[in-house]
Amino acid sequence: MTNPYFQAYERSLKDPEGFWGEVAEDCHWYKKWDKVLDDSRKPYFYRWFPGGMVNTCYNALDFHVENGRGGQDALIYDSPVTDTIKKFTYIELRDLVAKFAGALSSLGVGKGDRVLIYMPMIPEAAIAMLACARLGAIHSVVFGGFAANELATRINDAKPKVIVSASCGIEVKRVIPYKPLLDGAIEMAKSKPDHCIICQRPMETANLIPGRDLDWNDVMAKAKPHDCVPVASTDPLYILYTSGTTGIPKGVVRDNGGHMVALKWTMKAIYNVDAGDVYWAASDIGWVVGHSYIIYGPLLKGCTTILFEGKPVGTPDAGAFWRIISQHKVKTMFTAPTAFRAIKREDPKAEHMKKYDLSNFKYLFLAGERLDPDTLRWAEKSIGVPVIDHWWQTETGWSIAANCVGLHHFPVKQGSPTKPAPGMDVRAVDPNNNIVKPGEIGALVIKLPLPPGTLPTLWNNDEGFISSYLKEFPGYYKTADAGFIDEDGYVYVMTRTDDVINVAGHRLSTGGMEEILSDHPDVAECAVLGVDDQLKGQVPIGFIVLKAGVTRSQDEIIKEVVKMVRDRIGAIASFKTATVVKRLPKTRSGKILRGTIQKIADNKEFKIPATIDDPVILDEMREALEKIGYAGVRK
Ligand code: COA
Ligand code: AMP
Repeated sequence: MTNPYFQAYERSLKDPEGFWGEVAEDCHWYKKWDKVLDDSRKPYFYRWFPGGMVNTCYNALDFHVENGRGGQDALIYDSPVTDTIKKFTYIELRDLVAKFAGALSSLGVGKGDRVLIYMPMIPEAAIAMLACARLGAIHSVVFGGFAANELATRINDAKPKVIVSASCGIEVKRVIPYKPLLDGAIEMAKSKPDHCIICQRPMETANLIPGRDLDWNDVMAKAKPHDCVPVASTDPLYILYTSGTTGIPKGVVRDNGGHMVALKWTMKAIYNVDAGDVYWAASDIGWVVGHSYIIYGPLLKGCTTILFEGKPVGTPDAGAFWRIISQHKVKTMFTAPTAFRAIKREDPKAEHMKKYDLSNFKYLFLAGERLDPDTLRWAEKSIGVPVIDHWWQTETGWSIAANCVGLHHFPVKQGSPTKPAPGMDVRAVDPNNNIVKPGEIGALVIKLPLPPGTLPTLWNNDEGFISSYLKEFPGYYKTADAGFIDEDGYVYVMTRTDDVINVAGHRLSTGGMEEILSDHPDVAECAVLGVDDQLKGQVPIGFIVLKAGVTRSQDEIIKEVVKMVRDRIGAIASFKTATVVKRLPKTRSGKILRGTIQKIADNKEFKIPATIDDPVILDEMREALEKIGYAGVRK
């Protein structure tokens, strides 16, 4: 029973202070913590390493320069969409970050101020994040695929002093101008930033508003390097907004100390990489994977990280991943299963792979959505390295369950991200908060306190933190995923228990989309559901009931609602299909039978719910779904 995983796991639960206190010794502290864990505000609020003074940027950059890694590549920017490869050593990256920190400071940004970052995958985005960390300012990165309305919501909540953006992003061959979206968002928002710093890219020059907007190059030319500012371990490092059940996103807060300790430790324990290794997370800095494993984790560990501005297919072909792994000698890669489904679809026999030397490649990690057995088998067979599923969320910032190959490599069971990570006391419970038997499905919860690196609260919203995560299952954090734990302690994550769906590894709220559809003047009632999709895992489809007396063309109305979602959330919502129905199936108490509609759409077996008010509606739903190519028509 004793292998390093079990030892670490058991100690982390029995003696969390001893376990994480030892782990924390691996980081640089200006002042050590007074206590490893402050539980004086239990049962809801826990703080890691109170009394400690740190700087995350110092640990991610300066520490390595001072300890002999200055000449090693810290970051490789690989951008097939601009045909660029640019490498930054730890010294170079530290100097650029210090300068940009100086630029922000000269605009009045200091400890605790918020800086919103709305940028494509360019090195300036990483520099901006790290510069905030250097100053003790709190960054909030907003994914570039979000539309102005989403950006405005985040601006209003975070109230940034400065926004850092770029003139455009590039989607394969399409140039996406960012500045009109940014200007629109600022106009919509109640809270206005003092300044915007815009990185001008050659393919699209943005108009700058005099007095408010500044050119990245100009501010860098004038800036003086700024040193790292010691901050309290418990001070926020960043806010990252994520979808909840409504259109209002939740501002997940990450602290400095616990985050730094946990993330650095995960690099070896989970991903089995050491300082000097090349680690690549093919995600976007707008998502938690980008925060944790493009920027902070690999840099804290002293690895070389890759910032990839491209797609798994089409930039230029389905061999892009293999080219990068080979060219930059990647040891461990992390992406979402959907990326591999895209590659498999274009290159089922993995012909592209044959062109590249992949001898340095050791592990492929996948997360963000359920890893379907087909994709797992295809990846294992074609790449010939272990393919490791792991489960986590924006809120936790790192794995809840994983095959921690740096501790012990367990045999893979299809459909399971293996075992709970150290510090994560995962249980499956019934609605009365009783632990269910092995193999029985329940709500997946984590016993409090959560380990370091996870969310201590929501931004300016302690109440929301309690009501969203801690109230329903007292003593536990609710993951909002359902699943089971088998006899061997393997965790299986089956489905979300709320209105969140996962589209191409991106987390979206169907509730948020419903709010938009309801705003259409002809819509009386609506529902948006996630249905199976062979590439993206799930895609949203909308059902709308029209107001009495509406005689306009249904096709027109559908086009309009599709456009409304694209305009207000962004293309990333992938909301392309909706259908008009006479009524929605409901229980007698008026709840929409979402699960049943979903099963009809996915052509799965279902029982007619005993509580349904009129079963005939289900036949109507099937007909409507068939018309738009679901319910077994297109499988
Ligand atoms: N800025 C602007 N638009 C963006 C964007 C960005 N940063 N990212 C995506 N979009 C757009 C896309 O161009 C697409 O627009 P379209 O509807 O006009 O075609 C839309 O948003 C949907 O994007 P996506 O769901 O990503 O679909 P896709 O067909 O462009 O790509 C994959 C599909 C599978 C190749 C892609 O999702 C992928 O690489 N995913 C895996 C990696 C990943 O991002 N994981 C996230 C968490 S680990
Ligand atoms: P996000 O916050 O965007 O990272 O999304 C988190 C959600 O994605 C989780 O709550 C799960 O529903 C889902 N998810 C992430 N990783 C996995 C996985 N390995 N298996 C199944 N679902 C996953």
